[in-house]
Amino acid sequence: MRDGGPLGRAGLALLLMAAGAGARSRPAAHGDQSRSNVVLVACDSLDGRLTFFPGNQTVNLPSINFMKRHGTVFLNAYTNSPICCPSRAAMWSGLFTHLTESWNNFKGLDPDYVTWLDLMEKHGYRAQKFGKLDFTSGHHSVSNRVEAWTRDVNFLLRQEGRPMVKLTGHRKQLRVMETDWQNTDKAVNWIKEEAVNFTQPFILYLGLNLPHPYPSPYAGENFGSSTFLTSPYWLEKVNYEAIKIPKWSSLSEMHPVDYYSSYTKNCTGEFSKEEVKNIRAFYYAMCAETDAMLGEIISALRDTGLLGKTIIIFTADHGELAMEHRQFYKMSMYEGSSHVPLLVMGPGVREQQQIPNVVSLVDIYPTMLDIARIPVLQNLSGYSLMPLLYEKVEREASPRGSRPSWVLSEFHGCNVNSSVYMLRTGKWKYITYSDGSSVPPQLFDLTDDPDELTNVAIKYRVIVHSLDKILRSIVNYPKVSSSVQEYNKEQFISWKQSLGHNYSSVIANLRWHQDWLKDQKKYENAIDKWLGK
Ligand SMILES: *[C@@H]1O[C@H](CO)[C@@H](O)[C@H](O)[C@H]1NC(C)=O
Ligand SMILES: *[C@@H]1O[C@H](CO)[C@@H](O)[C@H](O)[C@H]1NC(C)=O
Ligand SMILES: *[C@@H]1O[C@H](CO)[C@@H](O)[C@H](O)[C@H]1NC(C)=O
Ligand SMILES: *[C@@H]1O[C@H](CO)[C@@H](O)[C@H](O)[C@H]1NC(C)=O
Ligand SMILES: *[C@@H]1O[C@H](CO)[C@@H](O)[C@H](O)[C@H]1NC(C)=O
Ligand SMILES: *[C@@H]1O[C@H](CO)[C@@H](O)[C@H](O)[C@H]1NC(C)=O
Repeated sequence: MRDGGPLGRAGLALLLMAAGAGARSRPAAHGDQSRSNVVLVACDSLDGRLTFFPGNQTVNLPSINFMKRHGTVFLNAYTNSPICCPSRAAMWSGLFTHLTESWNNFKGLDPDYVTWLDLMEKHGYRAQKFGKLDFTSGHHSVSNRVEAWTRDVNFLLRQEGRPMVKLTGHRKQLRVMETDWQNTDKAVNWIKEEAVNFTQPFILYLGLNLPHPYPSPYAGENFGSSTFLTSPYWLEKVNYEAIKIPKWSSLSEMHPVDYYSSYTKNCTGEFSKEEVKNIRAFYYAMCAETDAMLGEIISALRDTGLLGKTIIIFTADHGELAMEHRQFYKMSMYEGSSHVPLLVMGPGVREQQQIPNVVSLVDIYPTMLDIARIPVLQNLSGYSLMPLLYEKVEREASPRGSRPSWVLSEFHGCNVNSSVYMLRTGKWKYITYSDGSSVPPQLFDLTDDPDELTNVAIKYRVIVHSLDKILRSIVNYPKVSSSVQEYNKEQFISWKQSLGHNYSSVIANLRWHQDWLKDQKKYENAIDKWLGK
């Protein structure tokens, strides 16, 4: 869909007919006539609330709207861990974070882990992937991993650059995030030049980096900035009037772990309303650019007559707080960070359907196997979405019983100085920390308090008690928290040993160097104390 013009309803009916005709003229391989192609477009950092009202008032997202009109949108889809690598590990493995032990951006799945894509390929699908994957171990910067390992150390250092906005290019400039566009072009070419002639069904994965803010340079003139970058072309798609300025608790009222997050993200200083509004506007503009990439994929499928026999899934690894709760990035259980978009369209998928059930990214794995008719042989954390999506449910209920009424999200990485567990069910969001008793829990009523500003954990003790019981039946979380603490220490010690005499200078010059260099001795001592020296 070039330049935001989504296909009309009549247009889709026409192209579905055309696709049907194409299918008849090209015989499919034996047994594969009825298996759909699948295209999964997974972007980064897209706040799921933008895909429905009132989030969709802030920016025009024509491709997402197209998928909503011709498919199904999930209103309560969550990440299983609000940071890149652990979230992607959950999506590619179908298992909760504590089961794969993908604790932070440095620790994901083993490189030889068998994903749904591998299984689909093994069962006759042509498989192709482009762009950001980021679910295996060993990546991301040294700063990032050291920050994650040392989160239990009793110090407070600013790690991230203060968020800022930057306008680039001109009024006609569509392509800002060049790498994503190159990957989108590759996927489009693959559809037009290869997939179009396949006799087997295919699975195509496109991973986008947008709308993730652009990284903060470690040093140099732009040091200290995490940049929301866009061109006037995209900024014009944003409705400034509809942008909400988030309410913040005062610094002294913040939950202690939120305060740690806000501080390490360099957001505890003064921000004017205008500054916050601009950050949000630029973020939405970046979402519009992402939407246009999704549009290119939909157009390519339409142009090749494949749209009618392809299931398209659009989602993200996590959201973006864009200054809600005095934070940017994710790593938080608040809605902006943990709520992801999830839209599905394609043959048999109900049109214009909005599904309120809570679902999460671990559901992608069994859904893929379900589409490809591959039996599920292992215990997965997720459940297939197909029964929710389809007009007619042909298959029997899963032998594991029906989908539970809750979803689980957990976080063990940087910028949060405790392991966090979130259970979302009905109108409640229950968040508990560490061993369950040393840090106060939070309970939010998302119906009465969608902005999550009033913690009602003390008021509704009975509810907290019953939600905590459910949580403990899923995961022995005090035990998980302490094994993460041990893992962090072990990793830190071996990293320290590998540096030999250079340790003091290396640790002083990570991203937190501005603060660290003010009192090196104090921070090194804090680390020694944590290591039990
Ligand atoms: C926003 O979403 C609501 C609910 O899904 C829908 O009725 C409305 O048409 C959408 N508006 C826009 C501008 O997409
Ligand atoms: C934090 O923000 C201030 C500006 O408010 C900036 O001078 C400083 O460099 C930032 N710190 C880091 C670690 O980026
Ligand atoms: C696809 O197959 C058709 C018919 O065999 C052929 O004409 C066409 O060149 C092929 N397209 C590509 C991109 O290979
Ligand atoms: C996290 O950091 C905050 C701010 O320094 C502190 O008040 C709190 O006690 C810390 N919590 C844990 C569990 O370490
Ligand atoms: C699945 O879990 C059940 C119960 O925990 C266990 O008995 C069974 O062996 C597991 N199956 C596989 C394939 O892991
Ligand atoms: C310490 O730094 C020096 C100079 O950069 C380097 O040559 C040496 O290999 C480093 N030592 C270790 C153990 O990393």
